[in-house]
Amino acid sequence: MKTISKRRQARPARLTPREAAQYETPVIRQRVAEMAAFFGIENWFYKNVTELSGGQKQLLNLASVMAMQPSVLILDEPTSQLDPIAASDFLATLGRINRELGTTILLTEHRLEDAFPLATRVAVMEEGKLLCSGTPAEVGTALRASGHTMFLAMPTAMRVWAAVEQEGICPVTVREGRDWLTAYSVEHPPCPLPPEPSRVYPDGAVLEASELWFKYEKDSPDVVRELNLTLKRGEFYALMGGNGAGKSTSLKLLAGLLKPYRGTVTHQGTIGVLPQNPQTLFVKKQFRKIWRRS
Ligand SMILES: Nc1ncnc2c1ncn2[C@@H]1O[C@H](COP(=O)(O)OP(=O)(O)OP(=O)(O)O)[C@@H](O)[C@H]1O
Ligand SMILES: [Mg+2]
Repeated sequence: MKTISKRRQARPARLTPREAAQYETPVIRQRVAEMAAFFGIENWFYKNVTELSGGQKQLLNLASVMAMQPSVLILDEPTSQLDPIAASDFLATLGRINRELGTTILLTEHRLEDAFPLATRVAVMEEGKLLCSGTPAEVGTALRASGHTMFLAMPTAMRVWAAVEQEGICPVTVREGRDWLTAYSVEHPPCPLPPEPSRVYPDGAVLEASELWFKYEKDSPDVVRELNLTLKRGEFYALMGGNGAGKSTSLKLLAGLLKPYRGTVTHQGTIGVLPQNPQTLFVKKQFRKIWRRS
């Protein structure tokens, strides 16, 4: 969604003023209503934009593009800012658009686990050139046969198959993978998994947060409530959660970029921070300009 009224209300499937100028108001209304129903987002009409999660905003963007009834939909990594569940839902919606509305879709995507089963054709590019193309299974088989490292990014079903099977066409979807594995395990019963090694971190805490509470505005709801965390030296800690769960806010609190209204953070040594939006770190248009200064 691009344009928002003064009251910052979200309007699903909105056309830009230039696009809207080509159509009569009843046509626009009908298209918007159709798309809102198709996406199941009719109850978002009068919501504030800030109430929508990242996944919902991206779905709204898609609905507004689809209201133009394009014959071809081109998407450049549309799920890059979405959590895994929102991304999976978004790609499933693209599959529905393709199946039910007959829209041709051209998608660049890193989440191949979800995108491969949807695609009828896949092309792999490398250094500006076409490496191989074909059905997902053909592309997986070709990458594996050439020993290309890109095979490591293929869906799990393909990788499990490739680890044990020498020939044939590889499975693409979870269902195909399950069918193949069920048949394969009759002759090759699976072994139990080895236990995970447990690690010991003797050096004590390097970062400690105690009872952190935070909200962005005085009258807004708490985004972080009672956060307690101890990071030991050498630990690798993954923080997970859906869009808007408060991950970035928590990291900013731990890094000292935001101040909690209650609670304390203590740390040893320096903290390096890499923000979610890479543009945040670019202070000049050209690297040369920074380089010359030093
Ligand atoms: N600068 C801000 N001002 C006001 N509210 C904010 C601000 N930044 C984030 N929020 C709100 O705080 C909540 C947590 O946002 P946060 O960015 O920490 O989530 P997240 O888990 O990192 O989400 P994502 O997976 O999309 O990166 C959300 O409801 C968000 O709308
Ligand atoms: Mg975040």
